[in-house]
Amino acid sequence: MELYEAIRGRRSVRRYKADPIPGEVLDRLLDAAQWAPSWAHTQCTEVVLARTDTVKRALQATLPERNPAYKAMVQAPVVAVFCGRKGRAGFKKGEPATPRGDWLLFDVALAMENFMLAAHAEGLATVCIGLFDAARAARAVNAPDDVDVVALTPLGYPDQEPNVPPRKERAAFARWESY
Ligand SMILES: Cc1cc2nc3c(=O)[nH]c(=O)nc-3n(C[C@H](O)[C@H](O)[C@H](O)COP(=O)(O)O)c2cc1C
Repeated sequence: MELYEAIRGRRSVRRYKADPIPGEVLDRLLDAAQWAPSWAHTQCTEVVLARTDTVKRALQATLPERNPAYKAMVQAPVVAVFCGRKGRAGFKKGEPATPRGDWLLFDVALAMENFMLAAHAEGLATVCIGLFDAARAARAVNAPDDVDVVALTPLGYPDQEPNVPPRKERAAFARWESY
């Protein structure tokens, strides 16, 4: 699939088929995530792929039931847990290297976007989930203390054609030279 087509065509999907995902496809998605750029090439991003009902249910329990992606957490054959190893992105010798401090979220998001675009190119679907209890999700996947869980996504073949949420006017998004 052409890159712009993948970027424009990717949608957040909240209904999935139970069909399994071939191992080599999962490997290509992880490869796409790993080739994202990272702060000083520190590669803080790590991923847990949950396939068993036990772990998927434990992760689902970290979402409020009102989250529109709640059911998808067990419907989809895989849930990907995007994590970051703390103290790497944005740090030099343990000290923040910029006024912003921590760049962990940024690096994990870059990797996750690669993963979601690659998933779409493979005919799979995702939905980035941020409304959940990250500390509880960390316990569900036995994350060590220096690993932060950032976001989750179900991963599977789509069972819906979601609406296309329009984007705002270009002029409200991009400007020349300054505000
Ligand atoms: C950081 C982040 C957190 C999100 N959290 C949730 C969530 O908890 N539940 C959900 O159903 N969708 C969630 N979404 C998906 C957005 O609602 C979705 O990206 C947006 O409506 C645009 O739709 P599109 O992805 O199909 O273009 C999240 C997206 C992002 C980027």
